[in-house]
Amino acid sequence: GAPATVTPTGAETGAPAAAKAQQGAHLTTAQGVRLRDTDHSLKAGERGPTLLQDHHLREKITHFDHERIPERVVHARGAGAHGVFEAYGTAETVTKAGFLKKGRKTDVFVRFSTVLGSRGSADTVRDTRGFATKFYTDEGTFDLVGNNIPVFFIQDGIKFPDVIHAGKPHPDREIPQAQSAHDTFWDFVSLHTEAQHHTMWNMSDRAIPRSFRTMEGFGVHTFRLVNEAGETALAKFHWKPKLGVHSLTWEEAQMLGGMDPDFHRRDLYDAIEAGAFPEWELGIQVFPDTPDETFEGIDLLDPTKIVPEELAPVQAIGRMTLTRTPTNFFAEVEQVAFHPGHLPPGIDVTNDPLLQARLFSYLDTQITRLGGPNFAQIPVNRPRCPVNDMLRDGFHQHAVHAGVAPYRPNSLDGGNPFVAGDAENAFTDTPVQVAQARKVRANPASFGDHYSQVRLFWLSMSPVEKEHIIRAYTFELGKCYEQAIKERQLQCLANIDPVLCREVATGLGLPVPEPTLPLADPAPSAALSQVGKEWPAD
Ligand code: HEM
Repeated sequence: GAPATVTPTGAETGAPAAAKAQQGAHLTTAQGVRLRDTDHSLKAGERGPTLLQDHHLREKITHFDHERIPERVVHARGAGAHGVFEAYGTAETVTKAGFLKKGRKTDVFVRFSTVLGSRGSADTVRDTRGFATKFYTDEGTFDLVGNNIPVFFIQDGIKFPDVIHAGKPHPDREIPQAQSAHDTFWDFVSLHTEAQHHTMWNMSDRAIPRSFRTMEGFGVHTFRLVNEAGETALAKFHWKPKLGVHSLTWEEAQMLGGMDPDFHRRDLYDAIEAGAFPEWELGIQVFPDTPDETFEGIDLLDPTKIVPEELAPVQAIGRMTLTRTPTNFFAEVEQVAFHPGHLPPGIDVTNDPLLQARLFSYLDTQITRLGGPNFAQIPVNRPRCPVNDMLRDGFHQHAVHAGVAPYRPNSLDGGNPFVAGDAENAFTDTPVQVAQARKVRANPASFGDHYSQVRLFWLSMSPVEKEHIIRAYTFELGKCYEQAIKERQLQCLANIDPVLCREVATGLGLPVPEPTLPLADPAPSAALSQVGKEWPAD
C-alpha cells in the first residue's frame, strides 16, 4: 500500500496559492464553464421575472451570501505581514530548537491586532495590541502569540471570558466599541485587583502605539526551554523594535481615529512597500528552572508580573524583518490561526494557569471561526515541513489521503512505522515533577500581591508619562455612569500611589481615599522596569 500523505493535492507548501486561484483569460463559473455575460440575470423576457434555473446567478449570489466568516472573538481587528527570522545562535546553549541555531533563516508571518474592537474598528484606540508570530520552522510551526504589554489582566484563564465580557461593549447599547471608558471594564478591574497592573500599562502611552513598527512584543508567560543535553531553563520572550518604542499622544490618537482609522495598517503596508522593512530583535530573559519556579522572589507562573530587566537582562537571540505585505487580506490575515501550543522541540510550556487555559482555547475557537478542523491546510497555516499525521476527513478537507490504515503501527500501508531515530528530533514533553497535592480551585499565596509591581511601573515613569497616565485614568473613569465604581477604582489607586490617586480623584471631583494596604517599596534598581531599552546596533 502507498504511504499516507497529507500534503494537499496540487498545493505546494510555502507561499500562498494566490497565483493559482485565477487562471486563464476568460471568466468562468466555479466549474470552469466559460461565461458570456455576468451582468444580466436570465429572465422570461426583458421585463419578465428572473428564472430559478439561472445557475450562474444563484452560484454568484450564494457564494457572496457566504463570504463573511465570524470575526475573532477577541483580536478581531488586525493587520499582517510576511518576513524572515534569522537566528544569532546565542540561544543554542539553552534550547535545542533548530531554528535558533546560528545563521538559520526561517520564514515568518506576523499579525498585529487590537483586542476589543470589532473588525471595522479604529486602529488608534487605547487598547492592548496583539503581536503574534508564526515561525515556519523545519521542525514544525512555532507560534509566539504575544502582546505589546508584558503582563496580563488575570492570573487564571478561567476568568478570560469574564474579563473579555467586561471589556467588550456593554450588552445593552454595544458601546463603547474599543475603549476602556465604561462601567463594566472598571467594575471588573477594581474588583479583580490582579488586573491593576495590566490596567496601568493600558492607561500609559504603551496602549496608543505610534506604529506597529515601534511596539515591543512579549510572550508574557514563562516558557520552559530544553537544550540538547536535556537541561531545562525558564524563559520569557521579548521583541524589541529596531526603531525604538514610540507612542502617539492621546490627541493624535483621537484625531487619527476619525481622520484615518486605518493608520496602523496603512503605516505597516506603506513602510514595507517603500522598502523600509520593520525589524525586531527577539530576546529572552533566562531563569534557572528551580522547583519553586520563582526568580528573585517573583513567581514566574504569575502572568501579572514582570521580571525587571535589571534583575534578568534580555539577551538577543535573533532578528526578524518583515518584507512582504499580504496578497490577499482574507486568505492570510483573516485565516491565519495561531496557537500558543504550537511549539517545536526545545520550547515547552509551564504550569502558568493562564497559559494552560490558552492551550485549550485557541484550537477550540478556530474550529468555529474557520469552519471545521482542517484549517491547518489553509496556505498561511500550512507547516513548511513534511506533515504525516493521522487526521482524516472533516469539513473543508482538501487533502486526498492515500492508504487504508490511518493508525500506527499498521501492517497494511507498508507498515508505516515511526522512522527509527525519530525520537531524537521529536517533541518530548518535559517530565516535570507534578506536586503531590490535593485538587483545589485556588491560587498560590505568591499570586496575592496585586500592587507592588503596579507601583514599580508608576515610579519608573518620567513626569510627562505620569501626566499622561493621570489624564488617561481621569478621562476613562470620567466616562463611567456609576459613582461607586469610580470610587472603588480610586481606592485601588490609593493602594498604588498617593499622588496618582489624588490627581485622578481631583480630576473626577471625588474625595481622595486613604490606602487600605501599606505602599510597596520596590527596590530603586528595579524601578526602570521594561521601559525604553534599545539594542546596541549590530
Ligand atoms: C486571540 C494574545 C490570553 C483566547 C489572540 C491573539 C493574540 C492573543 C495576539 C490574536 C491572534 C491573531 O492575530 O490571530 C493573548 C495573550 C494572552 C492571551 C498574550 C495572555 C497572556 C488569552 C486567554 C484566552 C485567549 C487566557 C482564553 C482562555 C483567545 C482567543 C483568540 C485569541 C479565543 C481568538 C483566536 C482566533 O480566533 O484565531 N490572543 N491572549 N487568550 N485569544 Fe488570546
